[in-house]
Amino acid sequence: MIPRPELEDILRFYADAGADEALLEAPVDRFAEGHRAANEARRPIAERAAAAVERAAAPARVEPAVAVPDEAQAARARELAGQASTLEELRAILAEFDGCNLRLTAKNLVFADGNPQADLMLVGEAPGRDEDLEGLPFVGRSGRLLDRMLAAIGRDRQSAYISNVIPWRPPGNRDPSPIETEICRPFIERQIELVAPRILVTLGNPSTKLLLGAQQGIMRMRGKWQVYTTRAGGEVTAMPTLHPAYLLRNPAHKKLAWQDFLEIRAKLTSGG
Ligand code: URA
Repeated sequence: MIPRPELEDILRFYADAGADEALLEAPVDRFAEGHRAANEARRPIAERAAAAVERAAAPARVEPAVAVPDEAQAARARELAGQASTLEELRAILAEFDGCNLRLTAKNLVFADGNPQADLMLVGEAPGRDEDLEGLPFVGRSGRLLDRMLAAIGRDRQSAYISNVIPWRPPGNRDPSPIETEICRPFIERQIELVAPRILVTLGNPSTKLLLGAQQGIMRMRGKWQVYTTRAGGEVTAMPTLHPAYLLRNPAHKKLAWQDFLEIRAKLTSGG
C-alpha cells in the first residue's frame, strides 16, 4: 500500500503531465504486460505451438461492430448542424450528438462564451482541463491571457464571442485526430454562420488551418487579413493570430499578437 502523501505526489506528477483522467475502471499494468510477453517468448517452442493451436480452435471473439463509421458521422454532423437555425438549437443538437468519441471522455460540452451579438468572434482549438470542468472556453491560464489581450483593445466577454473548433476536451489534452476534427467541423462552421461576426479571429495553427484552409503555418499567416467563406457562400473578414497558450510558452512573441490585435481594433473602429 502506497502511503497517502506519496500517492498525492504521484497523482500531482501525473496531473502536471496532463494525465488527469481515469479512462478505465481499473488500472492496467503495462509493465506486467511486457513481462508476460517476455515470459511467453521463453516458453519451449512445442508448448507455445500447442497453445496457438488451442487458441485457433476456440470460437472467434466477435468485436462489437461500429454502428456508423466515422466518415458517415461527419456527414451526419453536417446534416444536423445545417438543421440549426439558432445558436440555442445548435447547442442542443451538439449536446445530443453521439458521433464523436471525444464526448465519451469529456466532462462537459464546451460550446461558447460571450455575446452572440458581438461583431468580433474568436475561435481556438479545443478545451483543456479547466474549460472541461467549467463547460466554458478559455477559462484557464490561456483564457486569462486572452481576456487581457481583449482588454487591451477595449473588449471583454460582453463585447466578443469565443468558441473552439472542438467542443469536447481531448483526453489528456492530446491533439484531436483528423477525423475527430472533420466530425466537429460542421458545428463550428454553422456556429460562425449563426453568429455572423464582422471579424473572425482564428487563434493558433489548427483553427487557422481548418477554417481558412491555410497552407502555411501560423507564423506566416498571422497578421494578414483573410476571407472566411461560409457554407452558404457568405464572406467574413478574418485575422489569424497566435494562440494564447503559445504566447505563454513564448512570451517574446506577445508583441506580434499585440500588432495583430491593433489591426483588429483599427478594423473594428474604422467600420471597414
Ligand atoms: N485552448 C483552446 O484552444 N481553447 C480553450 O478553450 C482553452 C485552451
